[in-house]
Amino acid sequence: MTDFRTGARANNPGMTDLMKAISESDIAALATYIAGLQLQ
Ligand code: HEM
Repeated sequence: MTDFRTGARANNPGMTDLMKAISESDIAALATYIAGLQLQ
């Protein structure tokens, strides 16, 4: 997510726009949430 925000990953403009629109602390909260998801 941070790489999209900085432009290090640039293959999806929607993803880049979204990650630039939210704060770094929002990204940290999303990362914590995503890391806690489990496949059945
Ligand atoms: C809250 C919303 C979103 C979150 C938390 C999120 C999160 C992520 C994360 C963590 C990755 C990296 C996955 C990996 O490297 O394995 C990713 C990749 C990606 N995201 Fe998002 N995303 C969101 C919304 C969107 C939206 C709105 C779009 C399209 C308009 C999008 C398009 C993509 C694409 C195409 C990739 C893969 C790029 C690649 O394969 O290199 N995402 N996203």
